[in-house]
Amino acid sequence: MNLYDRIPNNVNLSDDKKLQRALEKWLPNYLDWWREMGPEGFQDKDVWLRTAVDVGSEGWAHFDYVKMPEYRWGIFLQPSQAEAKVGFGDNYGRPAYQEVPGEFRNSLRRIIVTQGDTEPASVEQQRQLGKTCPSLYDLRNLFQVNVEEGRHLWAMVYLLQAYFGRDGRDEADALLERRSGNPDKPRILEAFNQPCDDWLNFFAFTMFTDRDGKYQLSALAESGFEPLARTCQFMLTEEAHHMFVGDTGLGRVVRRSAQLMKEGNARELGGIPLDIIQKYINFWFSYSLDLFGGEISSNSADFFAAGLKGRYKEQEQYKDHLAANDSFTLLVVEDGQLKPREVPLRNALNEVLRGEYVKDCEKGLARWNKILAEEGLTDRLNLPSPRFHRHVGEYAGHDFDLMGNLITTEEFERRRSESLPTIKDREYVRSLMHSVTQPGKIANWIAPPATGVKGKPFEFEYVRL
Ligand SMILES: [Fe+2]
Ligand SMILES: [Fe+2]
Repeated sequence: MNLYDRIPNNVNLSDDKKLQRALEKWLPNYLDWWREMGPEGFQDKDVWLRTAVDVGSEGWAHFDYVKMPEYRWGIFLQPSQAEAKVGFGDNYGRPAYQEVPGEFRNSLRRIIVTQGDTEPASVEQQRQLGKTCPSLYDLRNLFQVNVEEGRHLWAMVYLLQAYFGRDGRDEADALLERRSGNPDKPRILEAFNQPCDDWLNFFAFTMFTDRDGKYQLSALAESGFEPLARTCQFMLTEEAHHMFVGDTGLGRVVRRSAQLMKEGNARELGGIPLDIIQKYINFWFSYSLDLFGGEISSNSADFFAAGLKGRYKEQEQYKDHLAANDSFTLLVVEDGQLKPREVPLRNALNEVLRGEYVKDCEKGLARWNKILAEEGLTDRLNLPSPRFHRHVGEYAGHDFDLMGNLITTEEFERRRSESLPTIKDREYVRSLMHSVTQPGKIANWIAPPATGVKGKPFEFEYVRL
């Protein structure tokens, strides 16, 4: 572990002078980007953050006060496995690739760049949120997510610089040049160009959009390209916290709204009504589904065949790692109707991964509905149909209601304000966002967390302002 190098790492960076020079050249540009696009107004504050210092299952992180620009962004890969093998596809059982397979160089670079692009994008989307934090605890969690997204960018940039030569270096530079929501140089994926300017958006984003990250990273964590697999495995340990922030954050909003509903009208009492929460769920769930790509995809088949991108828990959940003969049936729109279509399983792997994601999201909804039940309410929150409000894949260009029934565009537009956040909804939510920064205090629209961070109480001074 070269923890005190300029770039902390466990990849023996000092043995590879060329790579070390390339990364050290990129480092000041990264810091410029962080200062310009990272959390606004808090760069010189001490934040109680966890820093990755090892990759072992125990004690991999260290907690202490740190100023964000001084965070030790490092490169950490899970240790290499002796005799690692390609775990699926046409090369199943052959030695894992230690270099990029030539014929897949472009598409693999595209995968890494696309994943890498989401990391700084989310930091940019969230950069104003600190100013309206509901508590110091939440402020600290926001910054924790932000610095770790920064580290995830480092993880992808390491792969680009180490394995893709000159093109990789150019892509690494471009990752610092695109900007979320900028019409001239937007981020690659649409969910990462959507504004995330209030905390309900933030919690829905970390619940649904970071969870897409979990599934993409999981599929790559078993990649036959071993450096990618080892990188993604470690990123997943950090990602778990981001989803925790979203899941429990929304749960706390739901709990507070339920408490206020028992006293009267949640809105009149300064809370967020459940129908607005539901609309935010519909918005972020549908945009996050798009991130999995088309339902029927030759790319997904090629990537599986090559052993580069597998299914979720490929080794644990499946026996047949070739998936060469099975088929998958999904509903497509044909002649103005939904009709089943059977496709080779390998062509439906985006949809298979999306299906795993949907199951995971449903568990989150069940947790929030349990909170509503605990508070004695009969209201429930739901996930919309995966066909609702899609912009990518088979269902894009058609309109569906929340139950997944095909409807006309006029009908969709007529119901839009019932199913997706309106400008008024967003303005109302924003009107509730005022910073609460006294230790132990919390905004009125959200319940406090069940526990603090890493054994500290909720009242702990997580950020010194
Ligand atoms: Fe990330
Ligand atoms: Fe994340």
